[in-house]
Amino acid sequence: MTDYEELTKELKLVSEDVEYALTVLSNASALLYEKLGELNWCGFYLNTGEKLVLGPFQGKVACTAIEFGNGVCGTAAKQDRTVVVDDVHSFEGHIPCDGASNSEIVIPLHVSGALFGVLDIDSPVFSRFTEEDKLGLEEAAAALEEILGSPALTELPDYDPEMINKKTAASMGDARLCIEIGNSCYYGEGCDQDQEKAVYWYEKAAASGDAEGECLLGYCLRNGIGCEKNEHRALGLFALSADKGFGMAMYNLAYCFEHGIGVEANSQIADEWYAKAKESGYKE
Ligand code: SME
Repeated sequence: MTDYEELTKELKLVSEDVEYALTVLSNASALLYEKLGELNWCGFYLNTGEKLVLGPFQGKVACTAIEFGNGVCGTAAKQDRTVVVDDVHSFEGHIPCDGASNSEIVIPLHVSGALFGVLDIDSPVFSRFTEEDKLGLEEAAAALEEILGSPALTELPDYDPEMINKKTAASMGDARLCIEIGNSCYYGEGCDQDQEKAVYWYEKAAASGDAEGECLLGYCLRNGIGCEKNEHRALGLFALSADKGFGMAMYNLAYCFEHGIGVEANSQIADEWYAKAKESGYKE
């Protein structure tokens, strides 16, 4: 007999600090598959609002979409209740995915007041799921609902291939793309405004020695935008960038020397850098 209390605890443990619903569901399917025993399939069908689509699972290749009301999964979803089937062969409309299945339990999952999907578990043993299993699994499912309902996890990761390609290239060292993504985050253009993320991308650009990245990161650090204020580091970044001939950095370096930011004020050095910034064609 499965120790469902222990299982629910483990479910919570493996889901701690996890960022994505897909990750939670993947480990949940593995954990349940391993701990329950006598199973041949265990996984999730997710509700798109139009149908149920195959999610993370353990077991053989399964059908990819199920209409509401079809099979055991579609029935549980439509009726919004746990369905236990002792003998799937006598369940009208049962969708056979793995010929080894003889009994099945399907539990609907809700997140933020909507049907998120169903947990589907199949066994080669007839009448595998007792009342005790049903209650235990419903408890585990409730824990899962709570985990999935945490604000960071409500959505599955947005799959935006163009953005993914861009971010991948940026992460792999394309500083121009780092700046582009960073600026989108900074100004909230094309995505939600998120200055912490902007700093993240500027850091990457700066790390690869990009003068604009160094300057923009310096600007955020000097003003405490999207990060903790660090005038000393800001000054260092402006200096690095200015030495590469980046006008905006020259101007900012001058400003730091003028106002004693991250360095003792020195109007002579400030004026020199203001002049260089002007020479470079930089306009405020
Ligand atoms: N038997 C299910 C279909 C999914 S597979 O078992 C993985 C059903 O009748 O809904």
